[in-house]
Amino acid sequence: MRIKVESASIVEMKSDLLVVNLFEGVKKPGGAAAAVDKALEGQLSRMLVSREFCGKSGEVSIVHTLGKLPADKVALVGLGEQKEFGLDSARKAAAAAVNAARKLKVKRMASIVHGAGAGGLSVKDAAQATVEGSILGQYEFEGYKKEAGDEGRGTIDEMVVVEKDKAKIKNIQEGAAIGEVLANAQNRARDLVSAPANKATPTYLAHYAAKMAKEVGLECEVLDPKKEKMEAIWAVAKGSKEPAKVVVLRTKGQRPKAKGTRQKARGPIALIGKGVTFDAGGISLKPSKKLWEMKTDMAGAAAVIEAMRALAELGVKKSVMAVIPLTENMPDGGALKPGDVVSSLAGITTEIISTDAEGRLILADAITYAKKEGAATLVDCATLTGGCVTALGDVASGLLANDDKLADGIQKAAASSGERLWRLPLFEEYKEYLKSSIADQKNCTEGRGASPSIGAIFLAKFVGETPWAHIDIAGTAYLSRGRGYLSEGATGVPLRTLVEFLRA
Ligand code: BES
Ligand code: ZN
Ligand code: ZN
Repeated sequence: MRIKVESASIVEMKSDLLVVNLFEGVKKPGGAAAAVDKALEGQLSRMLVSREFCGKSGEVSIVHTLGKLPADKVALVGLGEQKEFGLDSARKAAAAAVNAARKLKVKRMASIVHGAGAGGLSVKDAAQATVEGSILGQYEFEGYKKEAGDEGRGTIDEMVVVEKDKAKIKNIQEGAAIGEVLANAQNRARDLVSAPANKATPTYLAHYAAKMAKEVGLECEVLDPKKEKMEAIWAVAKGSKEPAKVVVLRTKGQRPKAKGTRQKARGPIALIGKGVTFDAGGISLKPSKKLWEMKTDMAGAAAVIEAMRALAELGVKKSVMAVIPLTENMPDGGALKPGDVVSSLAGITTEIISTDAEGRLILADAITYAKKEGAATLVDCATLTGGCVTALGDVASGLLANDDKLADGIQKAAASSGERLWRLPLFEEYKEYLKSSIADQKNCTEGRGASPSIGAIFLAKFVGETPWAHIDIAGTAYLSRGRGYLSEGATGVPLRTLVEFLRA
């Protein structure tokens, strides 16, 4: 979807579909809707009086203009109650309009910015949210069908964001450009997550990341975990035929070019994403019900790869590195076994209780690598525990952190991205659960209690004193039922939260 910004009166726009909005419970159209209402000789007002349209969040009514406006049709979208309105309401309204437009097979639409007037948002933020909702709302995973799919929905080629007041155009352009980068990156992350495990292998994802890095001007290295002495990653990978990889991406200028003078990066922020391209559980084999969903166990990796693209495209000046461990977790004759003891890049040893608690093993080495490379702050995201799904469902990701300031910063970013986060504890007492008589710690407990916290406690041993936040996206990475502006399937979470945090 191409995004354009134009300064014009909405009633002068020639388009297949014009989008205007109304809050729930208003008696008379205001702003752009009032101008459209006037041109349509009171049609919108009559719909309000008859309660044919109420303005509920996500509600859409289509009105044919019958030659009274240069545009063909008008979509009236509801913003919900004014007191509840926020950035996510703007995204939702935009996605609802796009959905209606697709059903009408519209190719070109024009929309006002949702929420900048009575909504109380800044014009720039409102434009960003309107564009995000539109692009995210149109997303569909293409798939691999030979035969043409459902013909019931069209694709919108162009959306023009319209604003009458010329003084607001610059801010709208800036906000729209940011929204476009973020939503397109998120949709790309969704494509990676939805891709089946026989296509999105560690090798494929490493190539993908290297190509992306070249396109946007990031540095990229693809490491062999065995050569790098990343024994914990290697331990997970050895039951699979697919070779494991560790992708390292860096914003430019972290290291001098001259060979042999490899200098530690000056305190970059490291993003780390779990990239298990298929989690069969290993020898601690998972039950077969919904096992196909474990192709999404690389959602953290996908979000981090695409967050790096967005940061580069937005020209964010911060020094950021990404460390992305990629492997399958499979059970073959060479696989890791329960009871095994494995070392790690940090030299810390782990007694394996379940080979299905593999995410923390690969993250441990990625964390150590980032620290060795001088990372001053660590943020990891991972589909780590089923317990997080039990606790928070698909509505919120778990946030665990050893640093309140960092956690607050990430929560603030999440409040504007609309990607809900809920902080879970890292109590000292959980350390007891991982005590081992033969290794420095166990990889998990036999019992199921507090698994999101215990997973994070395991990682904390590798993190040490470095400020660190861990985002458990096991429940939010994939929706079995669409919600708001996100359709069923991969979500791309927490990409926008990561980028908003780094942009702040
Ligand atoms: N990839 C899973 C976690 C997961 C579960 C992601 C459901 C998405 C949806 C992870 O590797 C795993 O298997 N975790 C185990 C840990 C346990 C053995 C301590 C779990 O949560 O059951
Ligand atoms: Zn697992
Ligand atoms: Zn896993």
